Amino acid sequence: MKLYRALQSQGFGSRKGCMAQVRAGAVAVNGTVCDDPEAEVDPAGLELTLDGVAWRYREKAYVLMHKPAGYECSHHPSHHPSVFGLLPGPLLQRGVQCVGRLDQDTTGLLLFSDDGQFIHRMISPKKGVAKVYLAQCAEPVTDAMLDALRTGVQLNDEPAPIAALACETVDPHTLRLTLAEGKYHQVKRMIAAAGNRVDALHRESVGAFALPADLSPGNWRWLEPAELHQLEQAWPSAKS
Ligand code: URA
Repeated sequence: MKLYRALQSQGFGSRKGCMAQVRAGAVAVNGTVCDDPEAEVDPAGLELTLDGVAWRYREKAYVLMHKPAGYECSHHPSHHPSVFGLLPGPLLQRGVQCVGRLDQDTTGLLLFSDDGQFIHRMISPKKGVAKVYLAQCAEPVTDAMLDALRTGVQLNDEPAPIAALACETVDPHTLRLTLAEGKYHQVKRMIAAAGNRVDALHRESVGAFALPADLSPGNWRWLEPAELHQLEQAWPSAKS
């Protein structure tokens, strides 16, 4: 692969822009400055450095973020800043999208990718990838509420009641809820239908992958191949 193409594929600008950066001596390949945009590079294990910042070549982008409260999962947010503003320019230029959305006031695990098939597999209702949420409720959690969530609650515009895959009390006001779907405001609507109200919502995990404890709110990082594999592991709810 030509060096300028490798740069372009990673989100470093137009063909012309990438060629100009290489010619200006701003790019190092595996630690050595290269000023020939047409130089052949091997994408496997390729480490590009641009203006002193190192970027490992990745054919596709898989990224996780600890979403903070007060950010919208939209490129065109209406009332709050966008989560995309927390990502670096090259990732935006690559066209990464959210893998399912979280409400502006929800915190926790948010995934991004530019791999359309991956996004589809993760959010397709047919796959039923489990999402685990911690929901802090306005009123104390009751047994009747747990029963309703486990057996199914009727939401507006849904043809049939929807049940949580799992539901347990964490403390008198907090529930851990596992859902197979990702419908609009689903946790808040289910908890409302069960007679309570969500005061705060946090996503702990998606599939078999949990938000790493060392990733603080507002921060992002790449998913490593083993983590991607973990994420794609069949989950008990997943249908083939
Ligand atoms: N369910 C909700 O109600 N909100 C979210 O952000 C995610 C799931």
